[in-house]
Amino acid sequence: MDINNNPWWLLFSLLFICLSLNSHVSNGADTISANHSLSGDQTIVSSRGIFVLGFFKPGNSSNYYIGMWYNLEKVPELTIVWVANREKPISDRYNSVLRISDGNLVLFDESKTSVWSTNVSSTTSNSVEAVLKDDGNIVLREGSSNLTEFLWQSFDYPGHTWFPGMKIGYNKKTKVNQLLTSWKNKEDPAPGLFSLELDPKDGSNQYILMWNKSENYWTSGAWDADGQIFSKVPEMRLNYIYNFSYVNNENESYFIYTVKDSTMSRFIMDYNGQVKQMNWLDGPKSWFLFWSQPREKCEVYAFCGSFGRCNEDTSPFCDCMHGFKPKLEHDWNLEDYAGGCERKTQLQCGNNSLSNGKNDRFLKSPNMHLPEHPQSVAAGSIEECETTCFNNCNCSAYAYDNNECSIWSGELLNLQQLTQVDADGKTFYIKLAASEFSSSKDNKGIIIGVVVGSIAFVVLLGLVLFVYLRRRKRTIKTTKAVEGSLMAFAYRDLQNATKNFSEKLGGGGFGSVFKGVLPDSRVIAAKKLESISQGEKQFRTEVSTIGNIQHVNLVRLLGFCSEGTKKLLVYDYMPNGSLDSQLFHVKDSKFLDWKTRYNIALGTARGLVYLHEKCRDCIIHCDIKPENILLDAQFCPKVADFGLAKLVGRDFSRVLTTMRGTRGYLAPEWLSGVAITTKADVYSYGMMLFEFVSGRRNFENSEDGTVKFFPTWAANRIAEDGDLSSLLDPRLEGNADVEELSRICKLACWCIQDNETHRPSMGQVVQMLEGVVDVTQPPVPRSLQIFVDNQEHILFFTESSSSQSSQKRSNTSAASSQTKSTTSSTSS
Ligand SMILES: *[C@@H]1O[C@H](CO)[C@@H](O)[C@H](O)[C@H]1NC(C)=O
Ligand SMILES: *[C@@H]1O[C@H](CO)[C@@H](O)[C@H](O)[C@H]1NC(C)=O
Ligand SMILES: *[C@@H]1O[C@H](CO)[C@@H](O)[C@H](O)[C@H]1NC(C)=O
Ligand SMILES: *[C@@H]1O[C@H](CO)[C@@H](O)[C@H](O)[C@H]1NC(C)=O
Ligand SMILES: *[C@@H]1O[C@H](CO)[C@@H](O)[C@H](O)[C@H]1NC(C)=O
Ligand SMILES: *[C@@H]1O[C@H](CO)[C@@H](O)[C@H](O)[C@H]1NC(C)=O
Ligand SMILES: *[C@@H]1O[C@H](CO)[C@@H](O)[C@H](O)[C@H]1NC(C)=O
Ligand SMILES: *[C@@H]1O[C@H](CO)[C@@H](O)[C@H](O)[C@H]1NC(C)=O
Ligand SMILES: *[C@@H]1O[C@H](CO)[C@@H](O)[C@H](O)[C@H]1NC(C)=O
Repeated sequence: MDINNNPWWLLFSLLFICLSLNSHVSNGADTISANHSLSGDQTIVSSRGIFVLGFFKPGNSSNYYIGMWYNLEKVPELTIVWVANREKPISDRYNSVLRISDGNLVLFDESKTSVWSTNVSSTTSNSVEAVLKDDGNIVLREGSSNLTEFLWQSFDYPGHTWFPGMKIGYNKKTKVNQLLTSWKNKEDPAPGLFSLELDPKDGSNQYILMWNKSENYWTSGAWDADGQIFSKVPEMRLNYIYNFSYVNNENESYFIYTVKDSTMSRFIMDYNGQVKQMNWLDGPKSWFLFWSQPREKCEVYAFCGSFGRCNEDTSPFCDCMHGFKPKLEHDWNLEDYAGGCERKTQLQCGNNSLSNGKNDRFLKSPNMHLPEHPQSVAAGSIEECETTCFNNCNCSAYAYDNNECSIWSGELLNLQQLTQVDADGKTFYIKLAASEFSSSKDNKGIIIGVVVGSIAFVVLLGLVLFVYLRRRKRTIKTTKAVEGSLMAFAYRDLQNATKNFSEKLGGGGFGSVFKGVLPDSRVIAAKKLESISQGEKQFRTEVSTIGNIQHVNLVRLLGFCSEGTKKLLVYDYMPNGSLDSQLFHVKDSKFLDWKTRYNIALGTARGLVYLHEKCRDCIIHCDIKPENILLDAQFCPKVADFGLAKLVGRDFSRVLTTMRGTRGYLAPEWLSGVAITTKADVYSYGMMLFEFVSGRRNFENSEDGTVKFFPTWAANRIAEDGDLSSLLDPRLEGNADVEELSRICKLACWCIQDNETHRPSMGQVVQMLEGVVDVTQPPVPRSLQIFVDNQEHILFFTESSSSQSSQKRSNTSAASSQTKSTTSSTSS
């Protein structure tokens, strides 16, 4: 596949060419010695040119730090990996100097005061020098001694980046816990509230994430040395890049890792409380977020601070509860929410100097995830519960649920707004000063109230009428047809149609989808797009391209809305929802039968063929997964969200990985930095085929905490060419065409081959599903095969798999011959 067939790829490249032009002054050396110091714009570079050390300034901050970054010739966006003077910035880099002083590496500021020092050596020898190594370690050594005998090394002082070869763990002798600490925010490398550390419990071999060294909010699960995974991080099975190992002896216990092949990869404790693995992609020249935990930002402890409210579906994720404002506005704008929110108006409770006669009141907040540490209070009714909270000046909120009254005192942490309609949200009442309520209750003079009330009613009626008429006028003015059948909707019309976006159908990486009804009673699904990086003209061009694509297996675009940043796409509503809900979540009585599954697989493949081969410009979907296959009333599949990868453009990689469930469907080439072709869709489609067969997610954490990865087991079964009925969803009770089952299983295995040239094209997939072309015996993909060697330690999908033979397959030669027959027409 040609790069030119993939326009968003081009966009990436163009954007980054500009950035790669700036570079730092370098004097070439990798060493700071008695007669070689650093000042101003000077840098040192590791011997193979991988890392650079020098002064830098993060973002718009006016502070300078000594830091280490990837050589800009390789990674054009400044990526800081280590900072020396994290807490003590300097302001004048030209009059500051990093040099060897009394046997230590010392940073002196403009007033010649030492602000940072390695603090180890007491020698005054002139031969001490500091060397920046290619693994990112700075080593202080005496003379030109062997680098393994050092006085000090930066690897013993981790910042927020965990380098390969760096130990994160506990030194039993020095009692030092060597951990990763986040930056405070994106402009301040000072240690923030979040850290990744080895669980300090004796003998524990798991990692934990801590907030302020006190609250544990995520646990990796124990290290399973045989499976090479942390028990609660099953997706490590699909990690071809990191090789972790655990060391525990009388002196220390720690984890260390190496990076396989030459992938540039970094592991960071981010300032937002998530640990992240990012891989550098040479193609688009950007960091690609491959993995992060906790998955949901709102799971990070106290992410939005006290009285801050986290919402997974909004950007930014944090805002303040009604009646509150950010305590530290500057930090808040840097996405540092730790300061939390404070009341705009103090409560009257307990303050006798406020004698304006207005009492504090409670604001109802529905659909919330309740904060931790409630106090249980005996109360017979919600009124009694409210009174209890009202009379206690320490009480800031209450909830009454299931005849149980809970109250909270003081500052509230971990407030979360839920938006999903079916989520188990609770109603929560927060205490506010009376003045925070726009229409305050006034019980003085009922008559006045009635009179005022009537006037208000008349005024209101007039207003409603006025607004209604104005809206009608606007509607007529703005919603019109463009580009053939495509409608340009006015935002207000969509707001009305969706009852102000009240019925959410789903949310994905590109934005949330809401159900609506148009005035002509046509039912629609309106998608509110997020992070659109395109200009108005481009957006319209792109949308009309998508609008022109019509196929029975593709969701039809009816129209769009584009008013400033408000960008929406309007589609036909699909009554049977998305495939995932039909395949995974439906109660046992209503599962999809085999025939329907097969037809959905075939229809989906036809839709993709149309995108890949029949459109004027080839469209790579990039996000094939059950969530994006919608089902109409007859269970005819319609592929959704195509063309959006292009619309979202540069931010796509970010969007992609924040999407729930996407990872299991990602083709390996997303990691290697080569151009993405239609074969990436084929891979995702293949992963989905396994789910058609099993009726379950490929990745599944079972109740007993074990990890199961269906494709590994299935691929081996298929390679043995035996009875495949054990792979089948037990709910089907064996009711499946044996021939079709075999075809779909073999095909799935071909689709997920590591090497994209071994995968069939979507056109070939259709032919195979139709039975026009035979499917040959597939090899087990190498990435799945790794686990075969560890046979007995892998917890497969069902018990019966344990009887499987563990012999290694020598199918490389078989693969190449079979590949020819399956992919003979792919090379065109
Ligand atoms: C540093 O200075 C010493 C003597 O002062 C000299 O021998 C040595 O070559 C110098 N090193 C460099 C790298 O210039
Ligand atoms: C720096 O400030 C400018 C203008 O205030 C703003 O547009 C830009 O986004 C800021 N950059 C960063 C990295 O915060
Ligand atoms: C070095 O030691 C001094 C005095 O003991 C201390 O104040 C300073 O924080 C230390 N610096 C570093 C970088 O550890
Ligand atoms: C450094 O020392 C180690 C062991 O102490 C030895 O294996 C290695 O060969 C030495 N390297 C050099 C460059 O002397
Ligand atoms: C973190 O803990 C320290 C003491 O353990 C406390 O003083 C500080 O207020 C805490 N920070 C936050 C943001 O709560
Ligand atoms: C992972 O690292 C360990 C220790 O360094 C090594 O023994 C093992 O062979 C490595 N595994 C792979 C798959 O590279
Ligand atoms: C532990 O430390 C002692 C003293 O430094 C050393 O002799 C011993 O070899 C170390 N043990 C291991 C397993 O590294
Ligand atoms: C009471 O209210 C007054 C006026 O708003 C305010 O200045 C004072 O700080 C409050 N006192 C307490 C204890 O909250
Ligand atoms: C309110 O908090 C203060 C200090 O934390 C405590 O002394 C007092 O007993 C509390 N009052 C009630 C009613 O819980």
